[in-house]
Amino acid sequence: MITQHTIQQILSRIDIIDIVGSFVKLKKRGTNYLGLCPFHNEKTPSFTVSPVKEIYKCFGCGKSGNSISFLMDHEKYSYVEALRWLANRYNVEIEETEVSPAVKELQQTADSLYIINSFAQKFFSDNLFQNEEGRDIGLSYLQERGFHEDIIRKFQLGYCSKDKSAFASAAIAAQYNPEYLLKTGLVVLRDEKLSDNYRGRIIFPVHNQTGKIIGFGARIIGKNDKAPKYINTPENEIYIKSKILYGSYFARQAIDKTDECLLVEGYTDVISLHQAGIENVVASGGTSLTPDQLRLIKKYTNNLTIIYDGDSAGIKAALRGLDLALEEGLNVQLVLIPDKEDPDSYVRKIGREAFREFVENNKKDIVLFQLEVSLKDAGNDTNKKSAIVNRIAETISRLNKTEDFTKQQDYIRQCAGLLKIDEEGLNALVNKFIRERITKQENKIHAEEDKYATESTGTLPTQEDDDLIDLIHKDELVERNMTRVLLEFGSYTWDDKQNVANFIFGEFDNNGLHDLIDNRQLLQIIQIYRTWVDDGILPTPKSFLYHENADISAMAVGLMDTRYELSQNWKEHYDGPMPTREDLYREEVISTLTYLKIRKIKRLIIENQKDLEKSKNPDEQFHLLQTHQHLKEMEINLTKEYGTVIYR
Ligand code: CTP
Ligand code: MN
Repeated sequence: MITQHTIQQILSRIDIIDIVGSFVKLKKRGTNYLGLCPFHNEKTPSFTVSPVKEIYKCFGCGKSGNSISFLMDHEKYSYVEALRWLANRYNVEIEETEVSPAVKELQQTADSLYIINSFAQKFFSDNLFQNEEGRDIGLSYLQERGFHEDIIRKFQLGYCSKDKSAFASAAIAAQYNPEYLLKTGLVVLRDEKLSDNYRGRIIFPVHNQTGKIIGFGARIIGKNDKAPKYINTPENEIYIKSKILYGSYFARQAIDKTDECLLVEGYTDVISLHQAGIENVVASGGTSLTPDQLRLIKKYTNNLTIIYDGDSAGIKAALRGLDLALEEGLNVQLVLIPDKEDPDSYVRKIGREAFREFVENNKKDIVLFQLEVSLKDAGNDTNKKSAIVNRIAETISRLNKTEDFTKQQDYIRQCAGLLKIDEEGLNALVNKFIRERITKQENKIHAEEDKYATESTGTLPTQEDDDLIDLIHKDELVERNMTRVLLEFGSYTWDDKQNVANFIFGEFDNNGLHDLIDNRQLLQIIQIYRTWVDDGILPTPKSFLYHENADISAMAVGLMDTRYELSQNWKEHYDGPMPTREDLYREEVISTLTYLKIRKIKRLIIENQKDLEKSKNPDEQFHLLQTHQHLKEMEINLTKEYGTVIYR
């Protein structure tokens, strides 16, 4: 892991104008810089970069973030890759910490597996081109299928000879660890000896996004009913099936350029299309798309075109991932290859241009396709038909972002047409699903608060409860404010003994940190701040703006983006120099803390009242009443204090 010290060093040198400016042409406009947004197509610039806040925001597409998220978004770097890029640019030497033994072991295993795979790939490729059996059987098979040498070399294909243990022996001679060899699936134990697992097969290396070999597919040559067509690498530390898209390493740039990702089923489909010059293509291996695979695609493009042969079982699999794809905001089209061909054979048959044209002219929207298929299935069965209406409404309701609104309306119109039902009716049904989902989400978010509010009432709402509900609405704001104040002013002086952060944490300790902040993410930011302070690092807003956890970074961007304007009223009535926000930081700290304390006391009062209602013991009742009195006094005092700070 890169040390926190190095990260802080990198962060202290970041210049967002310099970084974003190396990818986007920026012009100065007032305090900000303006350019054409690199994340969507536009003719007039709405992409704004603020050097002061160190964030960017596009007023066209809404994308926003910091220097690191820019590199992650634009260059598709991981957080660590972005840090390394920056370290390199600003000449910061990277210092790495010791990682935990478990992580270290995992990394070592992964490294060993990569090394063995790379050795195996070279071994099998050499076999294919240089060994007699390899050329006679492997290479001639590939050539008969029409693969040229350059494409075979590009995809690093190979051949594993029929010999029992040619590879195993070579690997052992090269002193690779048998335990790791077994993990890669390249060898298996037979009669207590390591033997080759892919004997007599064509080897397709599987690369991850950065080009490292994570595993292999081994295809049988010719037909054999007894043996499986492919043997694939078993799941291990680096081969995680749900995250693999075959060909993604070779497709990256083309997908970016065409803003479209073609999805096919097989290894050979990917390779054939590449040979034909169609490079924006990946393969799923014919299984249904997983959330991880969809996310990977979404990193590059919003447009997914699935190209399957007409009677492939893969179509059903593709449809299973549909709702998820829609929710991720992907536009999914389906192209069916006719006449028992697959993309590999079809592109060979009709050639590159005709294939491109065919794909362009035969794209079918997958939602409409799903509807047509199920309508055909249902025939005249009215029960089945109404189930279909429900399902399609649910599917359409997943497209629930404002930018998808037109698309949603289009779907409603087209689906109503296909179903021969009233458009308004379908619209209402879709809205019902949307409402249900929103309610579900809200319930989840407010479960705690709801529990709290209902528990506290039981009978008719009291003034207390009205206050409480009012408070709950303000809660989020105040908690955000507390966090922002800590980030922004934590390093400022509080008094001659301590800075603002120390003061706030002192107050927290006296009141219980967990009780003061409900929002888990905000609490997380505050806690991270605290561990950093304990480690002797004084964080700045930047430390969070660039945090590796994207949620935290997004939250920090949101917090720092809060616009602070003095009310018009104040401007009109106040003569003399305007107080700046910085002059007021002490007041902000006090008023925010006081508010949180009042809230806590109100909660204690309610708890206490509940106990009082339940209590049957006069002594206990008396004690509870005293507590009530005491809490009320505290509340009144605090409220006075709060008022003074706010209304002074
Ligand atoms: N597959 C698999 N195991 C099998 C069959 C298929 O893992 N027993 C996966 C492979 O990833 C394969 C994909 O499903 O690439 C598609 O299968 P298929 O179309 O049968 O294979 P192709 O790679 O297209 O092979 P070919 O064109 O040589 O028939
Ligand atoms: Mn095929």
